[in-house]
Amino acid sequence: MCGIIGYIGLKQAFPYLVGGLEQLEYRGYDSAGIALCADELRIQKAVGKLSEISFEAGEGTIGIAHTRWATHGKVSIENAHPHTDCGNEIAIVHNGIVENYRELKACLIENGHTFRSETDSETIAHLIEEFMKRGFEFEDAFRNALRLLEGSYTILAIRKGERKLLGARKGSRSLCIGIAADGIFPSSDVLAFLEWTDKVIYLRSGDVFVADDNQTVRIYNMAEGRAVTRPVDCITCSTEDAKKCGFDHFMLKELSEQDETVLRAIQQEEEGVRSICDTMRHAFGTFFIGCGSSYHACLAGSYIFSKIAKVHVNTVLASEFEHYEDFLTDNTLVLAISQSGETADVLDAVNAAKRRGSTVVGIVNREGSILTRESDALLMMNSGLELCVLSTKTYTSQVVLMAMLAYALADKYEEGLKKLGGLYLDIFNLTSRSMRDYLEQLAELLYDKDHIYLIGRELQYATALEAALKIKEVSYIHAEAFAGGELKHGPLALIEEGTPCIVFVAAENKAKILSNAEEIKSRGGYIIGVAPEREAIFDFWIKVPEAEELNPIIQIIPMQVLAYELAVLRGLDPDKPRNLAKSVTVS
Ligand code: AGP
Repeated sequence: MCGIIGYIGLKQAFPYLVGGLEQLEYRGYDSAGIALCADELRIQKAVGKLSEISFEAGEGTIGIAHTRWATHGKVSIENAHPHTDCGNEIAIVHNGIVENYRELKACLIENGHTFRSETDSETIAHLIEEFMKRGFEFEDAFRNALRLLEGSYTILAIRKGERKLLGARKGSRSLCIGIAADGIFPSSDVLAFLEWTDKVIYLRSGDVFVADDNQTVRIYNMAEGRAVTRPVDCITCSTEDAKKCGFDHFMLKELSEQDETVLRAIQQEEEGVRSICDTMRHAFGTFFIGCGSSYHACLAGSYIFSKIAKVHVNTVLASEFEHYEDFLTDNTLVLAISQSGETADVLDAVNAAKRRGSTVVGIVNREGSILTRESDALLMMNSGLELCVLSTKTYTSQVVLMAMLAYALADKYEEGLKKLGGLYLDIFNLTSRSMRDYLEQLAELLYDKDHIYLIGRELQYATALEAALKIKEVSYIHAEAFAGGELKHGPLALIEEGTPCIVFVAAENKAKILSNAEEIKSRGGYIIGVAPEREAIFDFWIKVPEAEELNPIIQIIPMQVLAYELAVLRGLDPDKPRNLAKSVTVS
């Protein structure tokens, strides 16, 4: 998630902006920038970590600052925020996605605007400029621009010569305002200003605010079309709770970020992806290895590779890999997936591969982890910190990267990126409040069950395994997944009246998996369908879009939400399940 902090008050803004960004580092980012407003608007932007960036102190009691996680547009200084208008008089910072930015940008270019970045966010600065060119004052121009934006967002805006700071929030992106005696701190996260004040106003979706240097804040709600007041609360939560950004648990926060983390996973240097593909093409045998969810990503990846690239790969649990060591050569490729990059079983397997001279490619989330140093080539997942023990956003990012490699191997890279980028809205909807409310109804039916079974075929089998892991590790309900075709080879003996079974349906093998579901239904089972269409056999239907080879990214999301709701109903802490650790550093 991008980090946003602003300041307007009686003191110099610079130290508050830099200090606020430092508090937001935990959210993860790849570039940062600040804008100070004095007689001139002064913008400083850089790629890298704040510890490597030295912003120059500058004058000005009004300013905005931002840490960026790339979604639209690669990691670069031009794409870092703040973004400005043509005349460098207006600066904005933005968190969220402008879904209709292409149309808006084309219209603005037709009206003579020149863009410096590839981002969707820069459109906002030019929109405000365009409305001011048409005679609107800064505040009205800001509101008019907001009316044209589609998508959820948090935005701050300042303008040369204006003694005010504007901001707005719509949808799921958080925006709050710290109120101190000597200044006002709008931010995406209370942590940014907790050091300076515990007084906060939480803005609601549709709220637009104007803060001026008389220390006043006026709030207007676009949906209600009128001025509104919001209470000044006192921040009593701990720093850890503050990092939840208003969510009850990290698990919910992190699974809700997947619309953006999927886009961030796509942000890879094409050259690096193609180089790994070349290694795969010339390898004598390729192994995908991982543990737990990362192993399930390997399995999903192996199906995706066979489907898209017509390439067979070996998928092996890292803890079982030592039994394959004798078959490794200096021409073997081992692709090791680990979000932590510290899992002992994975590192043991990597060491075995390196002993045999094999090439190791790492797919990792945590920068600086051991696996990043042991790998001959790397793809970073860019998911940001995942603080819940369960893998949610890191799992889908792993599958995204597997699909990217498969598309590149099949010379369908551009087509694949487009398909992956198109998942954003589907994922946004699957993590919406209404979907959560719907899945809570299912959790009410399941939370007191002793057993839940899950079945799928091909890609959906990998999803069934991952969904079973999510349910069992967070709710402690015994959840077990089977390949649909395996039921009659034993598992059917488990089915009794009312036994719940989750069935993952995809167009490619719909008839077969529904036939497997019938084997369960006819023995009294309760059928929960994860499917694009309602089927007569379903007792409960979870509607998901058909995403073909990308089904493992889409179909797992309602299962993550269901697992979360089951844990909450059972009075458990989803973030810290018993007996488990976020990184299993012992083998
Ligand atoms: C998944 O929810 C669990 N946290 C666990 O299975 C995890 O995927 C496994 O321990 C591997 O972790 P890694 O990706 O950090 O290697």
